Amino acid sequence: MKEHIQALLEQTLSILKQQGKLPAELAPRIQVDRTKDKAHGDLATNLALLLAKPAGQNPRALAQLLVDNLPESELVAKTELAGPGFINFFLDSNWLGSQIDAMVADDRANVPVAEHPQTIVVDYSAPNVAKEMHVGHLRSSVIGDAVVRALEFQGHNVIRANHIGDWGTQFGMLIAHLEELEKENPDVADSGLSDLEQFYRESKQKYDADPVFAERARNYVVKLQGGDTYCLTMWQKLVNITLQHNQAVYDRLNVSLTPKHVMGESMYNPMLAGIVEDLQQQGLAVEDEGAIVVYLDEYKNKDGNPMGVIIRKKDGGYLYTTTDIACAKYRYEQLKADRVLYFIDSRQHQHLMQAWSIVHKAGYVPESVSLEHHAFGMMLGKDGRPFKTRTGGTVRLVDLLDEAQERASALLAKRDTDLSDAEKAEIACRVAMGAVKYADLSKSRTTDYIFDWDNMLSFEGNTAPYLQYAYTRIQSIFRKSDIVSDANLQGKVIINAPAEEVLANKLVQFNDAIKSVADKGLPHLMCLYLYELSGAFMSFYEACPINKEGVSIEERSSRLRLCAATAKVLKQGLSLLGIDTMERM
Ligand code: ARG
Repeated sequence: MKEHIQALLEQTLSILKQQGKLPAELAPRIQVDRTKDKAHGDLATNLALLLAKPAGQNPRALAQLLVDNLPESELVAKTELAGPGFINFFLDSNWLGSQIDAMVADDRANVPVAEHPQTIVVDYSAPNVAKEMHVGHLRSSVIGDAVVRALEFQGHNVIRANHIGDWGTQFGMLIAHLEELEKENPDVADSGLSDLEQFYRESKQKYDADPVFAERARNYVVKLQGGDTYCLTMWQKLVNITLQHNQAVYDRLNVSLTPKHVMGESMYNPMLAGIVEDLQQQGLAVEDEGAIVVYLDEYKNKDGNPMGVIIRKKDGGYLYTTTDIACAKYRYEQLKADRVLYFIDSRQHQHLMQAWSIVHKAGYVPESVSLEHHAFGMMLGKDGRPFKTRTGGTVRLVDLLDEAQERASALLAKRDTDLSDAEKAEIACRVAMGAVKYADLSKSRTTDYIFDWDNMLSFEGNTAPYLQYAYTRIQSIFRKSDIVSDANLQGKVIINAPAEEVLANKLVQFNDAIKSVADKGLPHLMCLYLYELSGAFMSFYEACPINKEGVSIEERSSRLRLCAATAKVLKQGLSLLGIDTMERM
C-alpha cells in the first residue's frame, strides 16, 4: 500500500513538472507512513512540507495542488489536508475487503514472489565439534532459521551454511582420548558418547596432566593436518557423533538444518595456503617475526599504529580469520552468492569486519555483494548475568528443551479440556518448543535478553502460547460454524464496523512483516506483527458476533472470511518462524 501511494505521488509530481507547476529538477525521497490515529486516515505523507522550500511555495497550497492532481486509485477512498501541509489518505474499504478475499483464496495469503530471486547464503547455528550445543547456539539457530524461511518463501535461492567448528589443534587431544576409550570398548563411537562436554573435559584433563598423552596429542595434530588416514578417520567419527547430537536438537526445535548443510571450517583448510600466498603477492600481507600479518589502517592499536591481523602463525598454523577470508571468497566465487548473511553473536563483530576488510582489499568479493553480520546479544538469566546452570556451568540446549517440555506439560495438565493424554503430550511439545523459540525470536536481537520461564509459557502477552491459542480459537469458531475448509466460506468481505477495518488493515500488512525478516533479518518484527494481529482479532471477535441472532447472512459470511484470513496469516506467519500451530489446545 505504501508503495502504491508512493507511486501515485510520483506520478503526480511528473504531471506537475510537465505542466511547469513544479521545477523539473525536484527529486524528493517520497515518504509514506502509517498513521497512529485513524482520525488522520490510514497513511500520510509530508511530501508538501518537504518540497515547499525548494519549490518556493506555501506548503499547504502545495499539498492542495498535489491532491488536486492525484490520479484516481481504487485504493484511496479520500484524502485530507492536515496540519501545516500533511496529506492523509483514507483507504477504500471495498478495496480492503477485496484484498482480504484475495488472501483467503490464495495459498500464499497473497504474498508476492520476489521479482528478482537472489542467491543468498545464510550462515547460522555453527556449533563446535565435540562440544554440546549451548544456549548461545539457540539464538543463532532459531533466528537464522526464521530468516531462511522468510527468504525461501519469497522465492530466493537460499543456501544454508552450518559453519561448524570442526578444525583446530584441539583435535589432537580428542583423537588421543577417543583412541584410549576405544581400547576399552571398540563400539564407544557408535554408541554416540552420551555426554560430549564430559568427553571434551576428560580429554583436556589428560592433556594437562599427562605429558605422554600430550605428546601423542600434539603428534596427532601434525598428522591430521598432513592428511594421515588414521587421524582423519578418528576425526570423522568425532564430527559424525557431534552431528548426530546436533541433529536431535534441530529436529526437536524444528530448525530446518540437516547434515547436508554442513560447510565447516575444515572445508576451507585446503584453500588457506593459497590465500596467504596470494595476499603476500598482492603486498597486503607481510612477514613479521615469522608470522604472516595484514596491517589494517582502519583499525588502530593502542599506540595509534595500524592493527596487525595474523593470518598465519609462526608455527605455520592458520587462524579463524584466515578461514573466514577463504569462506567469504568461496561463497561468492563458488556459490555465486548475491548476499551472505552471518548470524553470529556480537562479540565476533570485529573479527568479521577485519576478515571482510581483507576480502575487499584483495578483491575476493566485490562491494556489490552484500556481506552482512546480523549480530545478536547474549541470553541472560533472571539475575541479569549470563545464563548458567545452578553450579555455574553452561546450559546444555537439550536440558533446556527437556525442562521446557516438562513445564508445558504441567501447565496443560491444569487446563480443563476433553483432550486425551496422547493429544496433550503432543500439544505440550508444540507449546514448549514454540515458547522457547518465540521467547528468543520476539526480542530485538541486537540486545541481550533475559530468559524467563514464566513469561515465555504464559498464555497472555507477546508469547507463542498466546498466538497458538488465538489460532485454535478461530478453529473452534469454525467448528461451531460448520466450516470444515475454506471452500465452505460463502459471500465476500464487507467492512462496516471499525474493529473489522482495524483487523483488515493489519491483515494486509503481512507482506511488510515478511520483508522485515527477509531484508533486515529482524524476526521480532514478525512476532510483533502477529501479536498485534491477534490483538486486533480478539477485539474484532468481541465487537462483531458471528453466530448470534440478528447477524445477517452477509455479515456472518464476511466475518467468517475475516476469521479465515486471520487463521491463514497466523499459521503461515508462525510457520515462517518455525513454530507449529494446532487445531485444539
Ligand atoms: N563456530 C563459531 C562459534 O561457535 C561460529 C561460526 C560462525 N560462522 C563463521 N563464518 N565464522 O562461535
